[in-house]
Amino acid sequence: MKGLEETIPVKNPYEYNGESLHISPHTNQSETTDNEVVKKSKKFYIESYGCAMNFSDSEIVASVLSKSGYSTTNILEDAELILLNTCSIREKAEQTIRKKLEKFNSLKKSNKQLKIGILGCMAERLKSKLIEEEKIVDLVVGPDAYKDLPNLIDKVERGQKAINVLLSKDETYSDISPHRLNSNGVNAFISITRGCDNMCTFCVVPFTRGRERSRDPQSIIEELKDLEKKDYKEVILLGQNVDSYLWFGGGLKKDLNKASEIQKTTAINFAKLLELCAINHPKIRIRFSTSNPQDMSIDVINIMAKYDNICNHIHLPVQSGSNKILKAMNRQHSREEYIDLIDRIKQIIPNCSISQDIIVGFPGESEEDHKQTLGLMETIKYSFGYMYKYSERPGTLAQRKLADDVNEATKKRRLEEIVELQQKHSLHRTKEFLNKKVEVLIEKTSKKSQLYWSGRNNENTVVVFPKENYNVGDFVNVKITDCTSATLLGNAIGYSKNN
Ligand code: 5AD
Ligand code: SF4
Repeated sequence: MKGLEETIPVKNPYEYNGESLHISPHTNQSETTDNEVVKKSKKFYIESYGCAMNFSDSEIVASVLSKSGYSTTNILEDAELILLNTCSIREKAEQTIRKKLEKFNSLKKSNKQLKIGILGCMAERLKSKLIEEEKIVDLVVGPDAYKDLPNLIDKVERGQKAINVLLSKDETYSDISPHRLNSNGVNAFISITRGCDNMCTFCVVPFTRGRERSRDPQSIIEELKDLEKKDYKEVILLGQNVDSYLWFGGGLKKDLNKASEIQKTTAINFAKLLELCAINHPKIRIRFSTSNPQDMSIDVINIMAKYDNICNHIHLPVQSGSNKILKAMNRQHSREEYIDLIDRIKQIIPNCSISQDIIVGFPGESEEDHKQTLGLMETIKYSFGYMYKYSERPGTLAQRKLADDVNEATKKRRLEEIVELQQKHSLHRTKEFLNKKVEVLIEKTSKKSQLYWSGRNNENTVVVFPKENYNVGDFVNVKITDCTSATLLGNAIGYSKNN
């Protein structure tokens, strides 16, 4: 049974893991009917890298482009336009894109009409430099400029290079209905905030995605309604920092003090938004990511406890277990405050699973600091986590002020140590489910066997079990009989009450 182990249970919303996604073709608008020749639509191919926000943005891009006569293809050679939605979080993410561009050279030679566009964080970070450095790039578009794509593509089609990397104070794409890509028809992302104001000293996101802004709750609820109508069963509310969601009529969060009294008293925070979603859609499972320790409120935890359809999982990056390093990272919490928050979460939701992001080898990290990170992990015993070696990013405060002074071999060894410890804790957590009944939402056929379904339980652990007569999208109770560190294995014992 161990052979059925799945890969990492969920994608870290900020994670770059070298994987890309290309989209499946939608209805082919260029097909001809018996008597008429339908206008041939142009085809574009899009690949997304990086976090879930980026994947979600690609669905906005697909929607914008479909309005200007483009349909999607997953065959590179059929495309007249190739778009890479890129990530800048670590240097390696950018190197992957550069290598990918090299591969497109030959395609461009054989198809002179082919245009290539770079979207997302790398576009925003490098701006016109990308066009100068990568001769095959025709189009560079930052995360807040996707509505301008039709104009920019027109320009490119006239043989010019085009670029728009303007960041916006209020763009949330709330008026765009995302064109779902590569969807299993079961779970979908809904983006609720854009940008980030946290200014962690290692992080490029505030520069690539701009200031933090929240999306109109009405449009979030509309999107949720639409997904439910289309039979989706789970939504993931997305933002760089969901707990800091605040709607008081639009604009930047820092401008709340300029709002009227009525705007202030009717403002909607994340706890209220979560409740609105949960109460109005009791059959939809709701997840959210990513949380930040300094912004997560007890109200949010209470709302999670109150509604069965809000999943008991919190992705709560800590980055380091050392107060000295947390301070140098400009994290707005101490080790003690973080542990205190987890204690309060566990008091209110005892079985809540917690996952982490940790960076090793941040400038100045001593062996003692590293030991404190290992110690913090021992205290919390995370269910799973995403761990990285520090990668210096141009323009960040850490790059400007701090020497990248932990050598590569030490970074590597420290990473191995925390990954090993995490695996031990993950197994400890999965074992807690042995012989228990869990509710699973079936998402897809297991990668390891056609005869098994793969889905996730409420706590976000992957569960694999024999298919029997169940179907994708069913909520099923599964008795857990075995586990690995990343996967629970069991047998279905019937539909759950949510079905
Ligand atoms: N180097 C390494 N890891 C980073 N992350 C963000 N910036 C960097 C960087 N410069 C990690 C953090 C964050 C996750 C999305 O990526 O752990 O939470
Ligand atoms: Fe997402 Fe951009 Fe951050 Fe990469 S750099 S994780 S794409 S926000």
